[in-house]
Amino acid sequence: ATERTLSIIKPDATRRNLTGKINAKFEEAGLRIVAQKRIQLTMDQAGKFYEVHKDRPFYGELCEFMASAPVVVQVLEGESAIAKNREVMGATNPADAADGTIRKDFALSVGENSVHGSDAPETAAQEIAFFFSGLELVG
Ligand code: CMP
Repeated sequence: ATERTLSIIKPDATRRNLTGKINAKFEEAGLRIVAQKRIQLTMDQAGKFYEVHKDRPFYGELCEFMASAPVVVQVLEGESAIAKNREVMGATNPADAADGTIRKDFALSVGENSVHGSDAPETAAQEIAFFFSGLELVG
């Protein structure tokens, strides 16, 4: 079925001017960017977005990183978009990521891993609503 998923191009990638190269990978995979904006997250907003990880040892570091430079938040649409996006991103740790994936080609480490993508339909809906209003989604 056609799905939508929330994607974030993270600070390590925006700093290195990789937004266009990453978007090309999404588009080549058949994912359509139906909403997109470049924003600077506050620590508070990063903390809320990643609240599910608040008890993990890397939570503080993760929030500081996400607030350290602009991010590009976007909604990707397509057939099985959630799984397809995860395939294009590659494994969380770039050392484990397959050839041709975004993380294999661009990520610096498990923390500075260039992109985030929703992991399931429920989280995709929540994460899209965190950043976008319905009016901003233009298929
Ligand atoms: P993401 O898909 O954005 O969701 C949670 C993030 O936590 C994950 O990508 C990683 O960037 C980050 N993360 C996971 N494990 C670690 C770790 N061991 N150290 C630092 N960051 C991590």
